[in-house]
Amino acid sequence: MITSGNDVAAMREACRVVRKVLTEVGAFIEPGVTTADIDALGRRIISAEGAVPSFLGYNGYPAGVCVSVNNEVVHGIPSTDRTIKEGDLVSVDVGAFKGGFHGDAAETFPVGRVIPLALKLLEVTIRARDLGIAAAVSGGHVGDIGAAVQQEVERNGFSVVRQLVGHGIGRRLHEKPQVPNYGSIGRGMRLSDGLLLAIEPMVNSGDAFVKTLSDGWTVITADGSLSAHAEHTVMIRGREPEILTA
Ligand code: MF3
Ligand code: CO
Repeated sequence: MITSGNDVAAMREACRVVRKVLTEVGAFIEPGVTTADIDALGRRIISAEGAVPSFLGYNGYPAGVCVSVNNEVVHGIPSTDRTIKEGDLVSVDVGAFKGGFHGDAAETFPVGRVIPLALKLLEVTIRARDLGIAAAVSGGHVGDIGAAVQQEVERNGFSVVRQLVGHGIGRRLHEKPQVPNYGSIGRGMRLSDGLLLAIEPMVNSGDAFVKTLSDGWTVITADGSLSAHAEHTVMIRGREPEILTA
């Protein structure tokens, strides 16, 4: 929760760095690059911008960004052994800490020609996230966000991951409240001006179940289906939140 102009400016700046990384990573990804190359680019930009990667060392997470491919949902650990190929669906999650504040956003990139199901999954995930953001209004409730996301996802025959949620953000990467991508209108914490949220649906083309690989981090779909992730950090502000990582 922030109210001072200085805090808002610092939060915008951390989020600008996150956006810069995602934009440059999006232009960089092509068949032949490894997920470690994506991590290296992300770290280079974050550090050149005078920021620190929020995820590096968080609960022992070993990289600067998360890169999750195809059936990987989130928290994929970049590796020199993982080479991107045509047709892949590559989610990149970026956090940057600068001026005392964290920004956090994720985008899923299609590599070259992908199957139609993958394109539909991407579209639905982004639309669900944006409908969730539109529901994040002052005086509303956290449940309004999840309800909007869930309705859009399920209307299209996909499923929302339950085991992972969005979150409050600001001076720490994860703050209260939790922001589930499912829920009921009118339920949960009341939203008010200055509240900072990371809204981040993870959407599976198959069922909602996920499991974690033995690396302790990589979350994959239990049924092997495709997954996509789209995240923005936003600030609640009247009838329309400010999308800080836009
Ligand atoms: N966007 C994710 C989150 O906020 C990324 C966290 S990765 C971790 O939860 F390594 F920091 F855990
Ligand atoms: Co997040």
